[in-house]
Amino acid sequence: MKLSLTLTALAAAKTASAADITPLVAGDLNSTLSALDSSVLDFNFISFGNAYYLQEDCPGYPEYDRSDGVPCWQTKCGVDSPPDTCFTGTLACQHGDDECAGNAAETCVKHLKPDFKDYMSFAYCYEASFPPSASEVSACASAIGLTTDDIDGCVNDADLMSSLQQTEGYATAQAAIPGTPTVILNGESMSSTRLMLRQVCKSFATLNPSADTPAGCSSSDAKQLRGSAASSSVL
Ligand SMILES: *[C@@H]1O[C@H](CO)[C@@H](O)[C@H](O)[C@H]1NC(C)=O
Repeated sequence: MKLSLTLTALAAAKTASAADITPLVAGDLNSTLSALDSSVLDFNFISFGNAYYLQEDCPGYPEYDRSDGVPCWQTKCGVDSPPDTCFTGTLACQHGDDECAGNAAETCVKHLKPDFKDYMSFAYCYEASFPPSASEVSACASAIGLTTDDIDGCVNDADLMSSLQQTEGYATAQAAIPGTPTVILNGESMSSTRLMLRQVCKSFATLNPSADTPAGCSSSDAKQLRGSAASSSVL
């Protein structure tokens, strides 16, 4: 059985007070995604952060309100049949336009290049110098076989863009994330992303007790981890 790993985060880590996102993307997450492939990992990056569609009946309207507006929108809109107003109107990002533009670009790249190795390489590159210059965006795009025009074509296609953003927004509201980054491994929010690859390999071994150790999880680690998974389930 594949593991599911979901990261909800925002573009703009460097301008954000949550300055711990870039080290995650460049560090533990990068090692995990570089070591494993889609036969092991069902990975999804939701580049939506703490954005929401402003709601008249939520605190702060018509301004963005991190402390009360975000949870109000999550509660109202993360339900089975959310009202239409949940995903229409103004989409407001926590740190303004650069972040919204970054989220849109990353969401489009995921749509255009759904293999996580591709679109996360783009996110890694795009976030390395935030906000990236036009030539940096172009270089990040060409490294995965896209052009700036491909990305702009998606971002500027209003129907496509709003449908992609609605999907990301709904997933964010449903997960009721407390903040960013939130990393969800098989339905559980990871309390620490330290040594993420080991934690992911351990979950894989627990979920698939008789499977071969995936390439990318070292077998000595996995044996140890399987041992510790077994003993911790006894305790
Ligand atoms: C991982 O980091 C390398 C640089 O060390 C980068 O080239 C690559 O695109 C990154 N991949 C992902 C999936 O983040």
